[in-house]
Amino acid sequence: MPVLTHRLPDVSAADAEQILATHWQLVGSARPLPGERERNFHVYTADSREFVLKVASPFEDAAAIELQVLALAHIASAAPETPVPRVVPAVDGSRMVSLDVGGEPHSARLLTWLPGRPLAEVSPHSPALLRGIGKTLGSVAQGLSSFNHPAARRGLKWDLAAPDWVGEHVHRIADASRRQQVERILDNFVRVVRPSLRETRSSVVHNDANDYNVLIRVDPDGVGAPSGLIDFGDLLQSHPACDLAIAIAYAMMDKPDPVGAAAHVVAGYHDAFPLTEREIGLLFPLAKVRLAVSLVNSALQADLTPDNGYLQISAEAVVRLLDLLAPVHDRFAEYRFREACGLVPCPSSISVAEWLTKNARSFAPLLGAPLAAGEVHVHDFSVTSGTIGSIDDWRDQRRFSKLVDDELAASGARVGIGRYDEVRAIYTTDLFRVEGNDGPEWRTVHLGIDVGAAPGTAIHAPFAGTIHSFRDNNAAGDYGPTIVLEHPAMDDRPTFWTLYGHLARTSLDGLEVGQVVAAGDRIGWLGDVSENGGWWPHVHVQLMCDMLDRFGDFQGVARPDEREVMLSVCPDPAPFLGLDASARAPRAPDTSTLVARRAQAIGPSLSVSYRKPLHVVRGVMQYLIEADGRRYLDCVNNVAHVGHAHPDVVGAGQRQMAALNTNTRYLHEAMLEFAERLTSTLPEPLRMCYFVNSGSEANELAIRMARAYSGERDMIVVDVGYHGNTTTLVDVSPYKFNGPGGAGAPDWVHVVPMPDTYRGAFREDEPDAGLKYAQAVREAIRRIRQAGRRPAAFLAESILSCGGQVPLPSGYLAEAYRHVRAAGGLCIADEVQVGLGRVGSHWWAFEEHGVVPDIVTMGKPLGNGHPLGAVVTTPDVAARFANGMEYFNTFGGNPVSCAIGLEVLSVINRDSLRENALRTGNYLMERLRAVGEKHELVGDVRGSGLFIGIELVTDRDQRTPAGREAAYVANRMRELGVLVSTDGPDHNVLKIKPPLCFGAHDADVLSATLDRVLGESALAPGA
Ligand SMILES: Cc1ncc(COP(=O)(O)O)c(C=O)c1O
Repeated sequence: MPVLTHRLPDVSAADAEQILATHWQLVGSARPLPGERERNFHVYTADSREFVLKVASPFEDAAAIELQVLALAHIASAAPETPVPRVVPAVDGSRMVSLDVGGEPHSARLLTWLPGRPLAEVSPHSPALLRGIGKTLGSVAQGLSSFNHPAARRGLKWDLAAPDWVGEHVHRIADASRRQQVERILDNFVRVVRPSLRETRSSVVHNDANDYNVLIRVDPDGVGAPSGLIDFGDLLQSHPACDLAIAIAYAMMDKPDPVGAAAHVVAGYHDAFPLTEREIGLLFPLAKVRLAVSLVNSALQADLTPDNGYLQISAEAVVRLLDLLAPVHDRFAEYRFREACGLVPCPSSISVAEWLTKNARSFAPLLGAPLAAGEVHVHDFSVTSGTIGSIDDWRDQRRFSKLVDDELAASGARVGIGRYDEVRAIYTTDLFRVEGNDGPEWRTVHLGIDVGAAPGTAIHAPFAGTIHSFRDNNAAGDYGPTIVLEHPAMDDRPTFWTLYGHLARTSLDGLEVGQVVAAGDRIGWLGDVSENGGWWPHVHVQLMCDMLDRFGDFQGVARPDEREVMLSVCPDPAPFLGLDASARAPRAPDTSTLVARRAQAIGPSLSVSYRKPLHVVRGVMQYLIEADGRRYLDCVNNVAHVGHAHPDVVGAGQRQMAALNTNTRYLHEAMLEFAERLTSTLPEPLRMCYFVNSGSEANELAIRMARAYSGERDMIVVDVGYHGNTTTLVDVSPYKFNGPGGAGAPDWVHVVPMPDTYRGAFREDEPDAGLKYAQAVREAIRRIRQAGRRPAAFLAESILSCGGQVPLPSGYLAEAYRHVRAAGGLCIADEVQVGLGRVGSHWWAFEEHGVVPDIVTMGKPLGNGHPLGAVVTTPDVAARFANGMEYFNTFGGNPVSCAIGLEVLSVINRDSLRENALRTGNYLMERLRAVGEKHELVGDVRGSGLFIGIELVTDRDQRTPAGREAAYVANRMRELGVLVSTDGPDHNVLKIKPPLCFGAHDADVLSATLDRVLGESALAPGA
């Protein structure tokens, strides 16, 4: 921004209040606002209205002020919905009032106050927010399109159509390469942009939609929307394209994917005020001109006022953005903006695709001879595929190559096809990760077709052309030796290019750029895994309607965000390969379709996680993968205990499934071995196993056992506990019976308070908190006995999960168990959530308390996602339960379940997952506590191993639960690619319970993402 010094009118707040009373008959208080050229006041009236009073000095151009006033009045009538300030007439009806200040004539005007914060102080900038900003600008532009004023035809430093003045100052940019970049941008303006700009619409435009002039309001859910556009001091007769380009330049600032951010603004603008194709094409180069002008201006001002730190900071943001934009081709940005406006992104793709389809039969066959029916096998490399092996196969290129070879061999076909527009699982590895505006994204969409055959198979040019470029792209996972052919324009079609990757190195020998290639000429051979970038032998064939000035290479995979644009630049090559529609991967349904179908087919009492539902199609260890290939760090699914789709567990299940699956009335070693191995993790005398299909079944069975054992019915449970979905379990789950739709506790259920030392009656500073909380158990027993009964059992989790990840205070369980046993009841430890090594220090969370329950119930983690639960008890309880009534479970303990359970136990040991849970859990808590130091909202970080809770509070002293904020954090983290969820009676505790393969790097990602979200203004009070 220019640093200009003006003499501001000598008007105090008291004077302002006097002016208001005299001319507007308003009684209120005035508070000075910053202003470069005018004296501005924020006015609060006695009747709670807000205004801005602006007083201009005699040095201000009266015509320029009139321009602003009339423009605002015009917008108010031409586009009344547009959120811009309204001019408030004085009592005499005039919009501008003449004043005498110190003997000099001044003018004053009153505008309505718009609520909101400047965009610069708001985060995040969601796609919807950016789109809204575009829409606001578009509606202002629409309003101004019918406005004229002679004062708008003026020379302004910030006229984007006239940046020539910076030419003489470019030398002030010290860095030579930066200077050259700026010169290139300005040169492109003169040669390309200006002539075209002159052909676009001219109009009065706002001309300064910088991030302090766009105001945003954030709703209680943290969703921001524009509430106004202010500062009409730079109104200018210019071009709408320039106006929008200025806004784009600011919207791109500090975004990892600046063009993506800009595209949202363009889309919104186009909705309100449709752009022409020519204007769309100019936006990106014009935005760069704005950045170049800014940078030169900063250098100029730095020379004039070297101490101005603000200039330095804003220049750094511009430099960072210019660096990010340097590799972005102008036409690529144009294509993205075209897509945002609903146009075909790459215009020439239409005629190329039509020509290909029309001539489909006349191309020379790629492999020398046409592909006969039955010769082709189509692979499924998609994220939903069941035939592409596991993460172990994808990590090892040779192993993956062999897997594909074997599949082709088994199919009996000669040629294997990898599909176009396929979202591929193998591209969800770190090699293909890029930073998007909302967290990481993966380049997962395949833009060509893979044609696989034996290494050394000759490749032929399908059409005539010339050698455009060639190169050995020899990084691991890249194309290896690659040839690009250019197919020059003919009568009925524009120029296009074809790329052939993963060739044998010898293919490049003797090649020359420009060399003529006839249709059918041999251009190379298929490479093998040692030379072709490390892939199975195949050629990646891709068609490009625009090479975007690339040579010997072109991106072969696209981010989901860029999918439609890149598919337009790279149409389907199937027609010239002689392939049918099976060579194109089918599209996944969009989430809104699935939500609608679900509403028709699935009962509404089953909710969907997150405001923006997730459509996950694959799990890979600690990650979940969405249909478009986005990878989420799963911090919440403790069911996938050793990792989603852990290859060893999958293999064990598959092998047993192929051999036998039947029920437990037959002898089977897997069941016995599983029982023996499982009980070996437990202290004596817990040695008797019963296998079931879920945690609910386990708790049901445990309650039956306790009743059979004691002959009593009454249960003691901890508040906010959840123990399962059956009728009886809902009756013993305060979380349910005291929650929405619940009918309260039945008379045989006795609830004791959560022993919560953060928000409960006895806090962390109470040394005997455990014993004191356990008194409530004794009290409950007393009440039961008063009614002439005894307790059947005390059922409690060893760390309270639904209660909000609450660890039990020391001494609590021992004391509670002592009371229960003294009354003849049994002690049931519900380890469905927390058991099987999750706490790290022990196999079972109750062990942290030095107690041994009479019954342990297990579920979630036991089968790593396969429905498997267990009840383990003592021989004594087992004997009393065997009262003649048989216990049979059709599926529980079947050979497949047992094989899976056994493998889960093996993996925990083999992969040292308990040790990892302890180490990573401690590290994670350390990191989370460091995040908590920075953000007041974090009240408590607690847990054991990889079972962690982060309690959010709006007030650390009062420990006031921050449920709304926790919902924001969980939903926002999901947007950023990290899955957590909330729990606790006030839903203000973030729960962390990831698969145990979660590592230190994942802990870093989780804590950094939490830090980012907690720092967002959407969470700040008064947002
Ligand atoms: C502590 C606890 N017990 C039991 C259950 C019931 O397990 P399932 O859903 O496998 O029936 C759950 C389920 O969330 C649970 O959290």
